[in-house]
Amino acid sequence: MKLSSLLVIPAALLLFSAEGGAQDVASVYKQRCAMCHGADGSGNTAMGRSMKLKDLRAAEVQAMTDDQLYEVIAKGKGKMPGYEKSLGADTCRQLVAYVREMGKKK
Ligand code: HEC
Repeated sequence: MKLSSLLVIPAALLLFSAEGGAQDVASVYKQRCAMCHGADGSGNTAMGRSMKLKDLRAAEVQAMTDDQLYEVIAKGKGKMPGYEKSLGADTCRQLVAYVREMGKKK
């Protein structure tokens, strides 16, 4: 049981990136950010709750400028790692736009 679920996860990730392309921002978010911030940005995950994350869709976060959001995503802040080196500046910019999209969906 355990072994089979360990095999399913990488297979699903492979299918996922083959479908959307490795740089597809939604899949980047799911792979890199959702474990803390939740797939919907709510922060309602075990990690998110333990770090007392804000809802990324909340007015407080959406009130930040694009540059401020970029700064956190690219350089990191507190317990959040920075992603500029691993993902590149362009993808970090797209993640800012993705955070805005989630804000509109609430
Ligand atoms: C290890 C858990 C973790 C991961 C993974 C993570 N974050 Fe964060 N994130 C945090 C924490 C903690 C903060 C709050 C930092 C602070 O204010 O000290 C934060 C803050 C933010 C903020 C600023 C809003 C706020 O709540 O202060 C944005 C935007 C954000 N993260 C987006 C992302 C994106 C996009 C990714 C993926 C590329 C990501 N995060 C990955 C933990 C994480």
